[in-house]
Amino acid sequence: MNICRNISLKCCITYFVAVWIFISFLATCYVYEFKLYNYIWQQPQDGCISCEHHENKNQVAFENLELYLRMTSKFTKQYYDFLLPSLRYFWPGNASLVIVLDEENPQDKELGLKLSQIYPYPRVEYQSPIDPGIYHSKGHERMQRDFFYPEGKIKTKYVGFLDTDTVFITRVIPDLLFEEGKPIIFGFYGKSSEPYFKRESFTTSSMYKSKEVVRGMSYFPVIMEVSHIVELRKYLEKLHNKSFDEIYRQHSGGPISQFSIMTQYMWSFHKDKYKFHFHLRSYNNGTWHGEANSPNRRSYEFYQNNVTDDQRSPKPRSSIHYRYYPNWRKPIALRNAIKTGICFSGGFDLCPDQCKHLNQSSLHTDLYFFEFIDWSWDKRSLDEQKKHYAKVLEQRNAETDNALKVGCVEANKLWFKP
Ligand SMILES: *[C@@H]1O[C@H](CO)[C@@H](O)[C@H](O)[C@H]1NC(C)=O
Ligand SMILES: *[C@@H]1O[C@H](CO)[C@@H](O)[C@H](O)[C@H]1NC(C)=O
Ligand SMILES: *[C@@H]1O[C@H](CO)[C@@H](O)[C@H](O)[C@H]1NC(C)=O
Ligand SMILES: *[C@@H]1O[C@H](CO)[C@@H](O)[C@H](O)[C@H]1NC(C)=O
Ligand SMILES: *[C@@H]1O[C@H](CO)[C@@H](O)[C@H](O)[C@H]1NC(C)=O
Repeated sequence: MNICRNISLKCCITYFVAVWIFISFLATCYVYEFKLYNYIWQQPQDGCISCEHHENKNQVAFENLELYLRMTSKFTKQYYDFLLPSLRYFWPGNASLVIVLDEENPQDKELGLKLSQIYPYPRVEYQSPIDPGIYHSKGHERMQRDFFYPEGKIKTKYVGFLDTDTVFITRVIPDLLFEEGKPIIFGFYGKSSEPYFKRESFTTSSMYKSKEVVRGMSYFPVIMEVSHIVELRKYLEKLHNKSFDEIYRQHSGGPISQFSIMTQYMWSFHKDKYKFHFHLRSYNNGTWHGEANSPNRRSYEFYQNNVTDDQRSPKPRSSIHYRYYPNWRKPIALRNAIKTGICFSGGFDLCPDQCKHLNQSSLHTDLYFFEFIDWSWDKRSLDEQKKHYAKVLEQRNAETDNALKVGCVEANKLWFKP
């Protein structure tokens, strides 16, 4: 061969070995990706004989809830890569998902048709365009604005807001989302070190003309009663003597969080209809004394006097915000997060070989880690984790068929031997 003529044999062998390794690396990646799509979306029933019966039964628990995903065709890859596999593994049955796309965008129309025909067979809705000045021509802010109008899209009492990079990391059971029948609201409390959220609290407090209670961008799915969001708009319209879109125009363009605005309203007017959990930020591992709260957040006295011990206690979350997760660009990080969730949700019993690298008695840290903010300094978190997995086990034992068993088989195919 020409290439070997002028160099030593040793060098030549090294060269071909390197090329071979590189090609097999590419091939492996391709097989991984292909299998992931293939198993999860084209053959969801693979290896699962009586799924239908079992999945229908589970859906009843969430009959009052539809998940709402506002996206556009630009985010198709995130939807396929992040949200979809995690829903498939951890959400029972066909999740009731409503995908809201841009009415005026032909690519969105095409995408909507396609998505509605594959797992989880979402209902697809289209949002008509509004004056781009309202959201300062920023797609992200258009999305945030539309979150305030769920009533035309959602048919159930509750809406559960998601993002395309929401990744579920544990078996979703009703107790994880509702406590005593009330939706759980998580909120970050304390000083934000991120510049965005320092200024975001200013927007919330300016909208309400009172200090922000918590940073609401702290969990998924954000579950709210649809009628309460309609009320929220009316309340702010009265407060500002302007239409909601005009208020939004005035307050957007800079850091803004629709979830902080929503949780602010629920805390102020419907505290008894939700279960609040204040996640005190961990920069002092819980020994914070309020010395430097963000200026537009309520004071430490508020946390001490107006927040109950129950509201300060940790609860596991169902998901992570994947683009704010360590090493998220590496596919292995996603597989590990999902695999760990499968192990804790049943894998230790159902597929022990695949979980032996993990310690069942230790903390499943993703339950308490959201956007780089840790909650595991609170010693109660391990007990809450145990309670969650005891309920997962109870539910698993009650099921005739077992979706997680399928999960183990797929995990084996997907992650251990391509
Ligand atoms: C999920 O939805 C699809 C499409 O509507 C349907 O064919 C399938 O039977 C559903 N599966 C379950 C378990 O409900
Ligand atoms: C509300 O705004 C309208 C004009 O948009 C004005 O006529 C009215 O006086 C305002 N009401 C109050 C209470 O400021
Ligand atoms: C908080 O706790 C973690 C582990 O328990 C420790 O690594 C970290 O240094 C602590 N941080 C502070 C500020 O005490
Ligand atoms: C705390 O609660 C009391 C009594 O309900 C109320 O008067 C007070 O305004 C609250 N403080 C804050 C900072 O919200
Ligand atoms: C598993 O974790 C528990 C709790 O953190 C610890 O006590 C135990 O030693 C660990 N076991 C192993 C085998 O590492």
